[in-house]
Amino acid sequence: MEKESDRRFRWGVATAAYQIEGAAAEDGKGQSIWDVMSHIPGKTRRGDTGDVACDHYHRFREDIKLMAELGVNAYRFSVSWSRILPDGKGRVNEKGIEFYNCLIDEMLKYGIEPFLTLYHWDLPEKLFELGGWLNPESPEWFYEYAKLVGERFGDRVKHYITLNEPTNVIEGMGPGATNAPGMEYSLKNRLQAIHNLLKAHGMAVRALRETVEDSRIGFSPCSGPFCPADDGEDIIEESRKGYCDLRKDDLIGNLVLYSDPVFLGDYPAKYYEYYRDVLPEITKEDLELISTPVDYCFHNIYSANVLDRDGNGGFRIRGGNPVCNMLEWGIVPGALYWGPKFLYERYKKPVIITENGLTHPDVVCLDGKIHDAERSDFIERYTRELLRARADGVDVRGYFYWSFMDNLEWELGFGPRFGLVYVNFDTLERIPKDSFYYYRDLIERNK
Ligand code: GAL
Repeated sequence: MEKESDRRFRWGVATAAYQIEGAAAEDGKGQSIWDVMSHIPGKTRRGDTGDVACDHYHRFREDIKLMAELGVNAYRFSVSWSRILPDGKGRVNEKGIEFYNCLIDEMLKYGIEPFLTLYHWDLPEKLFELGGWLNPESPEWFYEYAKLVGERFGDRVKHYITLNEPTNVIEGMGPGATNAPGMEYSLKNRLQAIHNLLKAHGMAVRALRETVEDSRIGFSPCSGPFCPADDGEDIIEESRKGYCDLRKDDLIGNLVLYSDPVFLGDYPAKYYEYYRDVLPEITKEDLELISTPVDYCFHNIYSANVLDRDGNGGFRIRGGNPVCNMLEWGIVPGALYWGPKFLYERYKKPVIITENGLTHPDVVCLDGKIHDAERSDFIERYTRELLRARADGVDVRGYFYWSFMDNLEWELGFGPRFGLVYVNFDTLERIPKDSFYYYRDLIERNK
């Protein structure tokens, strides 16, 4: 049943365990596939690893205090599976549980609501050795993990994100993989992994419903919406179709491949057509499991495809302009208008943006400050579009800026900075950037 508090708009920030925690081998934590891969020469930029990262494991009180100063009412973080279950299943590491208990209590002390992600790509290495997401038992492993999380934290944590961006899990198993495990598997295997991941999501929803009273659950895929270049009905319709189309040979950029089974109970028809020869077995029971009802349409949106007219009565995609530094993602604020609108129309669940942010070559200036005006401008433009969608009747319930602080940007190491808080990775000093204060005032203005 929906409660009054569900209507409260969440202004938050997001992080993920491997990117910030550090303490990679401390207090009984087991290894994850990211711990292993980041130590293989050549796999990450300059050999950067999450061994120390932001040392959040030891500095979380300072970090949560800063979050309170920022004025957010929600914080999206992820639990490191191998910190609480070093082997992925079986033996529980009480020290790991204690860390998250303290972290959650610290948030609540300041009135910051926890949004807990179960899986932000850091599969326990021991489970990888058993075949990882290709093992037919993997959904059961995820059930056991989710149940433990629900039992131990569910008295205080009500919001859960089962999987973060399954697309990137699959990217890590494809040609030219940059994510862990960083090995190429056959197409057939990758489709099997997608199916097992989605089944694991369903199992986690069930485990959390069984253990957490008043749970609010979803998963956080990522997509680049299609944004019409003008307000014509024809171009809007074409954008809607483009966004909700399944493109062949693209397991990474597709919205519907991952979201249709979860929200609509089946893969898109084209999926069965395109991959006829390599599909895993997909049963009615599997689809029921995958579409176990969720509460939210969580979504990560950074960029978009802009659909323009081609001058011959047709349409063409133009890139976003300008591009964000380093990662070359186009800046398209309309992504937070059209994305939520199309998602809400198709899946009919309240939308929460669980990630959106800008990387920028930040420097500490002579005055000791970080003048990242572009980031403030980015946040202003994107959130305006999100609030415009809300004013137009899209049921938008929140926005989480990625990221609270600079952190390990996966294979790109400590290069791209996304944070509102600057982190000096030598001294681990934190300095709030100008955008930190900008976002604080923006939250205040929109309370
Ligand atoms: C997302 C990912 C985050 C973060 C962000 C910025 O895809 O979930 O962990 O790295 O991109 O690149």
